Amino acid sequence: MGKFQVMDHPLIQHKLTMIRNKDCGTKEFREIVDEIATLMAFDVSRDMPLEDVDVQTPEGIAHAKQISGKKVAVVPILRAGIGMVDGILNLIPAAKVGHIGMYRDEESFEPHEYFVKLPSDIDQRQVFVVDPMLATGGSAIMAIDALKRRGANNIKFVCLVAAPEGVEALRNAHPDIDIYTAALDEGLNEDGYIIPGLGDAGDRLFGTK
Ligand code: PRP
Ligand code: URA
Repeated sequence: MGKFQVMDHPLIQHKLTMIRNKDCGTKEFREIVDEIATLMAFDVSRDMPLEDVDVQTPEGIAHAKQISGKKVAVVPILRAGIGMVDGILNLIPAAKVGHIGMYRDEESFEPHEYFVKLPSDIDQRQVFVVDPMLATGGSAIMAIDALKRRGANNIKFVCLVAAPEGVEALRNAHPDIDIYTAALDEGLNEDGYIIPGLGDAGDRLFGTK
């Protein structure tokens, strides 16, 4: 079974509190999501394999380490996942970026896939799927289905707020993937929104309410 980790670093918790606030405007919301994604990338990348390398310093040879193994692809679930991409690229600038478009039917909460564009070597990459919200889990499950169908086999899911229902559904559907979240909230309301959550992440990021 993959790992499930709530990232409770004080900076992450503080910044998440700021964007939960209904009075946090679009500009500030976008900036803080970016900052949280960078902080999360630090730990999500913790198990990247290292290899030995000798490097010439001005004073001699250092027996040092560099990252080896699989290269990274960051895959946001559109739209809201886009808000987390640059924050991760701050730390992993050579990563490639794929996109999976997914919207949730407002009444049934069923996800619908409308766009998939991935790096051609996705099967060779460590994939970080990013989406601020894991609510019923339907969007994440379908996005990861789409990735696996195209050969991705090393996937981590990174979100800001998760509902227990979504975590359970995602772990049942894809027990092999690691899930990282900044918060595990109480649950879902009758409209499929996370309680207390932070509202509609896409609308808050892009100002489309
Ligand atoms: C939101 C969110 C997730 C999804 C989570 O996207 O960004 O993708 O809902 O819900 P689920 O776990 O129940 O599937 P939405 O469908 O609102 O699209 P948007 O990002 O374009 O606003
Ligand atoms: N999508 C969101 O953006 N927010 C929620 O609370 C649930 C789904």
